[in-house]
Amino acid sequence: MGSFYVTTPIYYVNDVPHLGTAYTTIIADALRRFHLLLGDDTYMLTGTDEHGLKIERQAKEVGLAPKVFTDQISERFREAWPKLEIAADRFIRTTDADHEAFVIELWKKIASVGDLYKGSYEGWYCVGCEELKTEKELLPGNLCAIHKTQVERVKEETYFFKLEKYQARLLEFYAKHPNFIQPETRRNEVLSFVNGGLKDLSVSRTSFSWGIPVPDDPKHVMYVWFDALTNYRSALGHGDLKKYWSPNAKVVHLVGKDILRFHAVFWPAFLMAAGYKDSEIPNVVFAHGFLTIDGEKMSKSLRNAVDPLKIAAELGADVLRYHLLRAISFGQDGDFDHAAILERYNADLGKNLGNLLNRTLGLCAKMTAGKAPKIGERSPLDNQLEANVSAALDAVRQSWETLEPHRALEGTMAICSFANKYVDESAPWTRAKDDPARVPTILGMLLSVLRAVSVLIWPAMPKKSDEMRAQIGLAPLSPEIGSDVWPSTLELVPEGTPLDVGKPLFPTLDADQQKAVLEKLVPKKEAPADATASIADAPQRQADSASSALEDAPITYDHFTTVELKVGLVKTCERVPKKDKLLKLAVDVGEPEPRTIVAGLALSFTPENLVGRKVVVVANLAPRDFGKGLVSHGMLLATGPSEKLILATVDGDAAPGSRLK
Ligand code: MSP
Repeated sequence: MGSFYVTTPIYYVNDVPHLGTAYTTIIADALRRFHLLLGDDTYMLTGTDEHGLKIERQAKEVGLAPKVFTDQISERFREAWPKLEIAADRFIRTTDADHEAFVIELWKKIASVGDLYKGSYEGWYCVGCEELKTEKELLPGNLCAIHKTQVERVKEETYFFKLEKYQARLLEFYAKHPNFIQPETRRNEVLSFVNGGLKDLSVSRTSFSWGIPVPDDPKHVMYVWFDALTNYRSALGHGDLKKYWSPNAKVVHLVGKDILRFHAVFWPAFLMAAGYKDSEIPNVVFAHGFLTIDGEKMSKSLRNAVDPLKIAAELGADVLRYHLLRAISFGQDGDFDHAAILERYNADLGKNLGNLLNRTLGLCAKMTAGKAPKIGERSPLDNQLEANVSAALDAVRQSWETLEPHRALEGTMAICSFANKYVDESAPWTRAKDDPARVPTILGMLLSVLRAVSVLIWPAMPKKSDEMRAQIGLAPLSPEIGSDVWPSTLELVPEGTPLDVGKPLFPTLDADQQKAVLEKLVPKKEAPADATASIADAPQRQADSASSALEDAPITYDHFTTVELKVGLVKTCERVPKKDKLLKLAVDVGEPEPRTIVAGLALSFTPENLVGRKVVVVANLAPRDFGKGLVSHGMLLATGPSEKLILATVDGDAAPGSRLK
């Protein structure tokens, strides 16, 4: 028993909660619940990351002051998590006064040891990543490799953090703490990055103001990642909660693989510079993989369409939690498949766990007057069941401890399978006729398995655990510090406990019901109005920086005018070799040279159909790289499915380059 402190990344408020952010937060909550069962003193932190250029710009685009904007979106996160049965101890915002004060304190500490110095920086910045990029990291056309959007040239005065100075100490720390970065493959990536040499890090900006001002130099605001990473420590402050950041506590940061470097390199280096000892550096930074949805990368539109709250409302938060924890090997990329969630629901929860509960309670209702029976002498079959289950109880505990929830739940279901097999083999309905004295023992054994399972599922499915326990006459779990309630062997449900054959916990869904659920949940595959965005084999965009939050709000006229819609005249058009859907066009938009635009029009138009037509072009879209030197510099508007597209065209004499408004 000890202290356990688990954190999620704090989420940017340029987006509302989606399946990706829900995933990390659900896992953090499940791990924390597991540690509660062990009797650990636990603390869970989540929250929102609200400063920086990205947020300042988005607030401006919707015509709101940054704080008003961040208040609105942050609230969406705060409200969402309890609906997924997530109970964090603190929801931190980087605009919280205590956080800001702590960040300033950390800055001053680092400055006082001489690890911050003023200089100037010139290079490339990706606002989506909120990160400076080296030339080597960019794609042709100066595109960010993650966001596929154009990076910005930055030239300004900045404070640097002496990161290079910490290279050796970091490497030594990684060597002494082999579990600090998990999983192993990610650890190797970080090691090779650090071994490759660290450069001092720019940690302030002067070209915008939405951030924490640098002490005594308010022209500068602190780099958003310096501010954000500090949340893990600032949330605990200097009082009693500091115990969660002591050598006695286990500190686990869960992060997506996209932000591992910040957590595994910059964050420990900041802490080291601020005087934290190695024993006060977090114990684990675990980088999990990315989710795809029904096999597709979570693009902005898809991400919005798959709303975890909608899934939870339809199937129950516990079912969503179970699926995410069970179906994806923690640490690997994984697919969230809508049909698979229903299949797994039916198989694991309906036919295995649910059936075990229903059949046991049904048999007790008939054979032991709906009460927990007194158990008699055990047979070898009973002992075998107990031996199998006890071994599995340990293995499941071990899997949670080693951050393998998918295995833990697999082991939990294996226990249900043993018990279902035991029902078939012990055949209480036959024993009722030929050996009635056996029946109470069989049913008593089964109730004790259900009792253990009700504890094992609690981290993943707290609500279902409560319901299950109510049916077997037990109070909901309410773990206490210092008391380890993880079962190590089978424990009987006390004799005479009234049982309740309630509603099935997990009624299986037949084919029609599944179809009806899928119709509600699976995003409709309408072709987007823009033809280039519908190209199936275009380079996939990573969950980009554009805001779904913004889509919920009406836009101002100023916002609308940021999109340059222009009349374009198609000069030439040709097919793209090996790309069935793509056409490469040269479009005159009133500039000295026609633009190259790559569009997913080939299933609806031949090149000859298009030459000479006047089309609508989004002219200020960031270039998009299709690989092999093919870069699109704009987008045409169209509507309909890719085989029957209707092009948005312009009548009359509008000159190429005329603005549409
Ligand atoms: N604000 C920073 C984190 C600062 S932590 C000091 C940030 N925020 S974010 O809103 O972009 O959220 C990133 C995190 O969301 C990822 O690291 C991951 O935890 C989660 N995910 C976002 N998309 C995801 C998937 N498609 N799949 C799984 N997780 C994903 O970065």
